[in-house]
Amino acid sequence: MITLKVNGVSRRFDGDPDMPLLWFLRDLLQLTGTKYGCGAGLCGACTVHVNGSATRSCLTPMSSTAGKNVMTIEGLSPAGTHPVQQAWKQVNAPQCGYCQSGQIMQAAALLKQKPKPSDADIDEVMKGIICRCGTYQRIRQAIKLAAGVK
Ligand code: FES
Ligand code: FES
Repeated sequence: MITLKVNGVSRRFDGDPDMPLLWFLRDLLQLTGTKYGCGAGLCGACTVHVNGSATRSCLTPMSSTAGKNVMTIEGLSPAGTHPVQQAWKQVNAPQCGYCQSGQIMQAAALLKQKPKPSDADIDEVMKGIICRCGTYQRIRQAIKLAAGVK
């Protein structure tokens, strides 16, 4: 039996320990804000926080989540008031939206670690989250807005 916290709520899992965290979130908890893109750690659509670090949930086996704190887009700020969410809205960052929960979770982790990131910091951290709609310019703008840097 694996016990973990998801968005502050204690959860149990007694299935296959090799099952990816992404399936636990989407299929068992119905937290479908976290998306499935490649399933291979290449696109970042499935990014959540595990103990505060941005983590690809498609590559994270349930066995490694015991005792951990997982946060999904649904838990970042249920009212949508997190500075990153506010900035995203302000610059209309999404196009189709598919990649955006991963983008937001990655950006939120970046700002927690580096509250005033440089362009190079943003590029380095965000390059792992693919947007097929090409919203990269607005994403960078939103991160700067959330950070209060020009
Ligand atoms: S679905 Fe996890 S990195 Fe693409
Ligand atoms: S907004 Fe469409 S994939 Fe990023």
